[in-house]
This record gives sequence, structure tokens and C-alpha cells, in this order.
Amino acid sequence: KKLIDGMTVEEKIGQLAQFNANVFSGSDADITGPLVKNGLTGDDLYRIGSLLNFKDSKEMNELQKRHLEGDRNKIPMVFMMDVIHGYRTIFPIPLALGGSFDTELVEECTRMSAVEASSAGVQVTFTPMVDYVRDARWGRVMETCGEEPILNGIMGAAQIKAFHGEDMSKAGCLATCVKHFAAYGGAEAGRDYNQVELSEHILREFYLPAYKACIDAGVDMLMPSFNVLNGVPAVANSWLMKKVLREEWGFEGVVISDYDAVGELITHGIAADKKEAAKYAFKNGCDIEMCSNGYIKHLKEMIEEGIFTEEQLDAVVLKILELKKRLGLFEDPYKGASPETEEKTCLTAENRALVRKAASECAVLLKNDGVLPFSKEHKKIALIGPFADNHNIIGFWSCCGKNEESVTVKQGIQSKLPDVEIKVVKGCSDKWNEIDKSEFDEAVKAAREADIVILCLGEPQNYSGEGNCRTDLDLPGVQNELAEKVIGANSNTAVLLFTGRPLAISKLDSIAPAILNMWFPGTEGGNAAADLLFGDANPSGKITMTFPKSVGQCPIYYNHTNTGRPISKQRDEMHNPYASNYIDCGNLPLYSFGHGLSYSNFVYKGLELSSDKITKDAPVTAKITVKNDSNIAGKETVMLYMRDVYASNSRPVQQMIAFEKVEIAAGETKVVEFEIDESMLRFWNNEHKFVSEPGLFKISTGYADHLIYTTDLILE
Ligand code: NOJ
Repeated sequence: KKLIDGMTVEEKIGQLAQFNANVFSGSDADITGPLVKNGLTGDDLYRIGSLLNFKDSKEMNELQKRHLEGDRNKIPMVFMMDVIHGYRTIFPIPLALGGSFDTELVEECTRMSAVEASSAGVQVTFTPMVDYVRDARWGRVMETCGEEPILNGIMGAAQIKAFHGEDMSKAGCLATCVKHFAAYGGAEAGRDYNQVELSEHILREFYLPAYKACIDAGVDMLMPSFNVLNGVPAVANSWLMKKVLREEWGFEGVVISDYDAVGELITHGIAADKKEAAKYAFKNGCDIEMCSNGYIKHLKEMIEEGIFTEEQLDAVVLKILELKKRLGLFEDPYKGASPETEEKTCLTAENRALVRKAASECAVLLKNDGVLPFSKEHKKIALIGPFADNHNIIGFWSCCGKNEESVTVKQGIQSKLPDVEIKVVKGCSDKWNEIDKSEFDEAVKAAREADIVILCLGEPQNYSGEGNCRTDLDLPGVQNELAEKVIGANSNTAVLLFTGRPLAISKLDSIAPAILNMWFPGTEGGNAAADLLFGDANPSGKITMTFPKSVGQCPIYYNHTNTGRPISKQRDEMHNPYASNYIDCGNLPLYSFGHGLSYSNFVYKGLELSSDKITKDAPVTAKITVKNDSNIAGKETVMLYMRDVYASNSRPVQQMIAFEKVEIAAGETKVVEFEIDESMLRFWNNEHKFVSEPGLFKISTGYADHLIYTTDLILE
């Protein structure tokens, strides 16, 4: 507060501005260009409160040092970055990681990335991203944990805890920023940045809970989304930013706009100019403006005009300085970051071992007719397809991870089986517009001559992530044709799939003996694939976002309502007139939420409730018995589902309310217990109250379209 008393209005406003580091990097001579382009003056250079997207610890140190020399208040800048699934050692994309259903693994991976990122000078990460999603066309589904609100919230909270570490003021510990508030994942037609129009009921039921879970977990900052939500862009949406976030949820942390989202209020047709854009954003509680200059240019003028008061500005500055204090920046503005620490900390053998384990825990065995695991005794392997020897498998948002540092499938298999002959044929491209089939004959010949074939297919890593949306969700290019030819030549084939989203691979599914989805597995992808293919690891990942049969089924998700005219599973493949279905495709997906096979054979033996009645004061225990009826130890995620059969609004046909991943030895039987309490049966009613309504509930285990042991439970 004392510091604020001594600051000029311009200095205070500087704390509210964030720019890309490249605006300031270089010597005084070459900063003139970028500064001018951003409408900044030389003085602004020493006032800016935070930077994003710097290169490494060297650049961070130089920028901080120069800033502190020039700033008479000696307020350190805070350095932010998107550390999404690793800093330098990259672990699987979040959509894959969520499917591990393993919060400890998520914490371990996140902790590793916090330590690496901090050694390079990152102090705040724009994570967790917990946007709820239902449409695989949207490229950013790869950043989320999918279509289950509870899971998104749990994984978000695990990341926050791990980034914070023991003490946020110490090296290795980062502040966090939950994003993108709200419902960015509801973009119409799965097209990025598109408008979102959702009822308050659907918003509160599915989209908002994960952000709230992150706030409850102590997230430090929040980023409003780019999209228009029910008519008003998030950053200027007073219902969202004031009523829900600040008043209802009591969020007191720092709100930062997304990249130029304040400036975009003009293109949205909400603000006439930068001044008006800045006015709406500030009025609705946006504290830091990322990469647009409305605050720097116009906030002072608006204070002079009486639109805002200097006290309002002071309150925001105080919040930002408090964050810097919590981060320990006034003691050590570098938090120990240096090229030496960075070199020692990043990409260590230990980190590589962790991400190798993570990649195998996240992979999902989508189909297996008994081909997998392969024996290590085979002498000749044909490795075919665009991902056979491809380093581009770390996924979008890989921060400072380098493709060339990743292990390809070929490298992984070669190091596991050094004496085996491996013939690699790319076969075709993975791009949608490259249809050259000239290598098909060579691929077929290699398949014919081999004992086993590993066919490595998928979509390029830059087909998902920000701005990368698709209208076709099948394998791009001529990969299906390649698959047909190769599998025709040798049926001892397993497909390895690389993707950043659920794909509509009905064709492939109908011909492939086995499909192992690696998602984008990260730095150790090839080693993890080899572990899984040859039985040194047992697949245990589940999909957390439904794979459609065809793109026309999108949006498709497991927790849908029943409609007045549902069709039964048995009639799914035929057209049912005057029922809720299609003429040319069933309603069931290709693979449902929760699907994922194992080399073990898990047999569910029963679900028992401790009582068939539940009250507010008397919870009920559900006991689920699972046997590993095989001679291979494995892990199974046991899930508990509920359905509220009659309520004042139509409830989903199934909702996951709890899960636990358990390891079960060969031949062993385990009982997993869950406590069901009344709060787990609540929903947002039409008056926007979170309530439970007495009556009949159905409790099941299994997953999505494969629910089993459905048992009645009465809420009294
Ligand atoms: C835009 C993205 O939407 C957001 O997720 C990210 O944090 C910012 N850019 C900063 O890189």
C-alpha cells in the first residue's frame, strides 16, 4: 500500500498491462519498432507489470534486470507462459492425461513441469484449462479433460496444487490461471472463437462447475474467454464476470484478459473504439489487459473524466502487487532462474522416465481382436504409416518442448528389440490435401514379408490446438486406403493412432484387428508405444470424450437427456420413424466416454448398496466387486453413475458421480467402495438453485452406454 501511495497514475496503469516479451527484447535501438507498433513509448517500457512468451531464462534475466534498473519503484515484472503439458519434457496432451483417471500421475507430471518452467523463469502459468467440451471439431479439445464436468474439476484442482508446490514464493513453484471463463468449448459448430449461446441451466450444470472447482482449489488468476456468451463477449459480460464470478463465487484473484480480447470488443461490435473497449473490460473486473493497449492509452483519461476513480485503480494494483509478493518476487525477482539451473533441471533422465510412464498410462486400447500384445519373438516387423518414424508427436501447446527431442515409434521399438529387422515405409502423408499413393506398393510388400505390422496413422499435431478446427474427423488424406491395403496383406496388424481429438474412424475400426490410441503422447511417445505393443506395459487409459461414428453426430456426449422419443440400443442401427435419430446413422457413438480395453480381463461381479434409501443425513455406500480374470496384472478405473429418473427438469440418462483407478493382480478380486451422499444427487433446477429432489434414482457401474448392475435408490 505504501508503494502504491508513491506511484503515479501512469505507473499504476502499467501494472495492468501485459505484452509479449518480443516487444521489449533486443537493444534499445530495435525495441523502437515493436514499441511503436503497440502504441507504447519508451517510458512504458519500465512500467509494464508483466510479460508473456519469453524465450528462456537468459532472456528473462536480461529483461527483468533492465526493467528493474529503469523502474524507479523497483517493482519486478511477473513472467507468464502457457505451461500446458510440460515445459521442456512433454507429457501427453490433457485430453489424454484426464483419461488416465489418475490424479497422482497428473500431480507428478505437473510438478515436474513446474520445476522445469520455474528454472527457465516462468512464474505464472496459464493453466489449468478446464473448458467443458462436446464437439470434437473444436481444435482445443486437446487441452481439456473432455465431456465430464467432475473430472475436469478434479484434474484442474490437481494441477493447481502441483503448480503451487509447498510454498509459492520459492523456486519451482508457480501461480496458476484458470481459463477460459466461460464456455469457450461450446463454440458453435466447433469453430474456434465462434459464439456460444447456452441456457443458464446448461451453463451451470455442465460448463461452470470445473472453473468453480479450480477457484475452490485456490487458483490465483482467471482468464475470461474470447467468445460471445449469450450475446456479450466474456470479458465484458457483467452477468458472468461480476454476478457469477465475483458476487456468487467471491473470487478475489486477478483476472487477465485473453490475448487482445479487450481490443476484440471492437470487432465483436460491442465497443466503438479502444477507449470504450477498455471501459467495458475494466468495469467488469478485468484487471490485466493482455496484448492490447486500451488501459495504457485510455484509463488515465477515464479516471480524469470521472468514469472510474483512482481508488478503483489502486484496488486492482494492490491485487497484482499482492500476487507478486506471494510469488516472492520482491525478494528474488528471478526466483532462481538461470541458464545453469535450466540446463540442470530440464529434460533429465528422471523426467523422461516419468513422461514415458504417463504416456503408457494414458494410451487407450480402443480395439483388440487378440493381436496385442505382440510377442517379442517375431523376427521381422513392418512399421508403416506417416507416424512410423515421426518426431511430431508431442502435441500442440508444447511450450519449450522440441519435436526433435521426442522418441519416434521406430526408435522406441528399435531400442526395445535391437536384434529385430524393422522395415519402415511411410506409405502416405498425414495431411488432408496430400493424396499421393505412390508408396502403397512398397508398404504392401513390407507388410507381406513381415511377421507383424505396426501401422502408425493419425492427424498431424497442428490439426488440433488453438485455431485448428476440422469439419472432417476421419483420418486425413489416403490413410484409410493405405490401411485397407496393408491389413489386406497381413492381418497380424495393430494400428497405433496419433491424434489430438476424438476421430470418426468407423472405416478403420471395421478393418483393423487392433487400435491403440496414443493421442499425442509427448517426448517419450515412441518408447511408451513399444512398452505397450510388446506387453511391458498394460493399457489402462479410458477415453473422456466420445468418438463419433461420423462427424454428423457431433456434438455427441454420454451425459445427454433421454428426449421424449428415444430409441433402444437394439434398434440403433436402423431408422426409427418419428423417433430421435438419423436416417443414415445410429445414435450410438463409435467409442463411448469411459471406453478403454486392457490386456487383463476385468469382470464386474456386482454392485451393492448399503441401503436402498438415502437421506440428507444418511449417506449410502456402494460396493463394486471386480475380478481380474486373466494372468496379467492390470489397472481398471471403476466408475459410479447415477440417473435421476424423475425431476423438475429432464435429467441426463447417466452422470458419473465418482471414480477410482485400482490395480488388480492377476486372478485377484477387489471391492471398490464409494460413499454416495445427497449432495451428489443435486442438479441446477429451473430457478437456478442447486437442489436434490426426492424420488427414484438409478445407480450403476460400467460406463456410458455400457452401464451394468443398475440398482434403485430412493432419496427421501
Ligand atoms: C490465447 C489462448 O486462448 C490462451 O489460452 C493463452 O493462454 C493466451 N493466448 C496466451 O498465450
